[in-house]
Amino acid sequence: MATNVDALFQSGQIGTQTVRNRIVVPAMGTNYANERGEVTDQLLDYYEERARGGAGMVIVGSTGVDGTRGNAIARQLRIDDHRYIAGHSKLATRIQNHGATAFIQLNHAGGGTTVKKTQGERPVVPSEVSRAYNARDPHVLTTEEVEELVEKHVAAAARAERAGFDGVELHCGHGYLLEQFMSARTNERTDRYGGDLEARLQFPLEIVEGIRERVGPRFGLSVRLTVEEFVPDGQEIDDSKRVAALFESAGIDVINVTTGTYGSAPQTIEPMRYEEAWRAHYAATVGEVVDIPTIAVGVIRQPETANDLVADDVTDFVAIGRGHVSDPHFARKAKAGQTEDLNRCIGCNIGCVGDGIFSHKPMGCSVNPTVGREAEFASIEPAPDQQEVLVVGGGPAGMETAVWSARRGHDVTLYEASDELGGQLNLAAKAPGKEKIDWFNEYIQHQLDEADVDVQLGTSVDTETVREAAPDAVVVATGAHPQSLDVPGVELEHVSQAWDVLAEREAIEGSVLIIGGGSVGCDTAEWLAERGHDVTILEYADQLAPRKEVISRIDMLDQFHDRENLDWETDCQVTEITKSAVTVADSNGVESTFVADSVVLAVGHEGENSLAGQLDSLPVDVYVVGDARASRNIDSATDDGTNVGLSIGAPDPSFTPRL
Ligand SMILES: Cc1cc2nc3c(=O)[nH]c(=O)nc-3n(C[C@H](O)[C@H](O)[C@H](O)COP(=O)(O)OP(=O)(O)OC[C@H]3O[C@@H](n4cnc5c(N)ncnc54)[C@H](O)[C@@H]3O)c2cc1C
Ligand SMILES: Cc1cc2nc3c(=O)[nH]c(=O)nc-3n(C[C@H](O)[C@H](O)[C@H](O)COP(=O)(O)O)c2cc1C
Repeated sequence: MATNVDALFQSGQIGTQTVRNRIVVPAMGTNYANERGEVTDQLLDYYEERARGGAGMVIVGSTGVDGTRGNAIARQLRIDDHRYIAGHSKLATRIQNHGATAFIQLNHAGGGTTVKKTQGERPVVPSEVSRAYNARDPHVLTTEEVEELVEKHVAAAARAERAGFDGVELHCGHGYLLEQFMSARTNERTDRYGGDLEARLQFPLEIVEGIRERVGPRFGLSVRLTVEEFVPDGQEIDDSKRVAALFESAGIDVINVTTGTYGSAPQTIEPMRYEEAWRAHYAATVGEVVDIPTIAVGVIRQPETANDLVADDVTDFVAIGRGHVSDPHFARKAKAGQTEDLNRCIGCNIGCVGDGIFSHKPMGCSVNPTVGREAEFASIEPAPDQQEVLVVGGGPAGMETAVWSARRGHDVTLYEASDELGGQLNLAAKAPGKEKIDWFNEYIQHQLDEADVDVQLGTSVDTETVREAAPDAVVVATGAHPQSLDVPGVELEHVSQAWDVLAEREAIEGSVLIIGGGSVGCDTAEWLAERGHDVTILEYADQLAPRKEVISRIDMLDQFHDRENLDWETDCQVTEITKSAVTVADSNGVESTFVADSVVLAVGHEGENSLAGQLDSLPVDVYVVGDARASRNIDSATDDGTNVGLSIGAPDPSFTPRL
């Protein structure tokens, strides 16, 4: 039965603008601009797709007003010169052509610049309070320089209006320059831009006043406001109510309510664990003190959640950020009740943040490999050479390959050895707070159905299976297998593999020592601790899960510190396992012993691709994807699957996944 989403699809008012529904794509930096900060075709296509997908308002991500020293990300858009207007004009038009309202966020990162080398310039800050900044050796702005920056923001807004945008958003959140001025924690100035709350607001309020004087009466003005910083001595919601009221008096049309700053990344771009809409109540609190509309944000992922927030008057608008990265057509699908087709963001933060903007790379997405490649996927043509494709393995890589191959007209059969699809996704979703991984598993399985892929469960493929089926192409998506440890005692009965424990193939008794503190070891530790076991992780390196996505890792360690029955030791190499103990040596060779009832191995896994080698003698094209190619993560599994799905029958010479 279709969900009632009537409230979500009422039009709404922001200043003089009528927005066609209550769904907002909030500002998200993409790193799709070029090195000069100009609009590119990739960026145009990305934003256009979100507007085409039915969102009411699209806010273009962080755009610089003051050269590269204000960059929040490496390839950030700029609007600090007239030469940028033409590109922005195209951008505004491409968004508006699909009926969406187009705003652009003006941002100066100040001491929060993530760009290490700002072309010889020093990052600028309100005060020398370095603990709150990302930047080293910052320059404290003089009064005159702040006044110049007021004018730079105003001029940028005027350019945005000339380019045809419906409005601008001032970024007063997430630890960037305007928030650095607004927060007592980072502003110790003694001129008119520092002091009590009103004085600390002077800088953004002068910008608002300047913009209102410079632009036409129809031009919209939003402020993105961190209302709770979630750091010691940080700004709190009670003060923020007054801040919101002052912005309203200054002429702002909408308050886009956010949280978090430098030092509270999990409360800014939440990892997987956070519940849907957990911080929407802040918008309601702000809404109590202002008459202008509010926008709520934070893990709003499903149409009914979004609808209820509007229907229950928690907020006027809902911002769905990563949910639009994973599925640009959120609004269209929500309206049509196509919830099974909605690719909900799982919050892994890998493609978009960890391996994306935080690594100075273009934004990607683990569950949506088409992001940033919108033009390529605008229309999927049948492959010139229609083939019979046999996919071996029903994990994310195999499923993604099967879907794209079938969409291109191939006759696809997918064989999975076990009795369920999903592969390691079924283990990955086990640890507390990782249940959202099931969303992707459900989504991609639905796509298999829709694409008419013939799925054969409980069938382990070997050379004979392939010989009999005689396909044109075989895709080896057989995943990985866990590695063991070469120490005495590893074969004892109380020693299990983490994969078997999570799959509940092996029961665990009493207290547990987990050997290996990578992501799988940490997941297993949490899963066991949640079930009441006393757990200790023994890790060879000097820290836990160093390769885990940075925000998720911060969150994981917070959880670990809160769990009384979960402990860990680093710098310990296991030398022996006995029935009652595990002996380890540190990097100086000093030995110690840990006692527990059970031992669990989580010492890594390696690609399982033996089938590929065995197929050499058969007249088939062989492709290897996902962990079978190199043991990695969901992001690379779906990426490989998509690329191979697109290459079968029309090989792209630049892509050679064959072993
Ligand atoms: C505990 C755990 C937590 C994880 N957490 C995350 C995470 O948070 N984020 C993330 O990005 N990644 C995570 N991963 C890794 C991620 O799940 C894998 O990288 C991804 O599933 C690899 O996909 P794949 O399709 O290549 O292989 P798999 O998911 O391993 O799928 C391979 C499939 O092939 C089948 N198969 C094998 N041989 C045959 C055969 N001969 N015939 C038929 N079928 C066969 C297997 O049964 C399996 O179902 C985690 C992994 C584990 C174990
Ligand atoms: C890749 C990425 C880039 C972001 N860039 C910005 C930005 O430029 N400006 C901003 O105010 N917020 C930015 N954010 C925060 C989002 O707008 C949003 O508030 C956050 O992702 C939480 O909402 P969500 O759960 O709907 O994604 C970014 C988030 C992501 C994932």
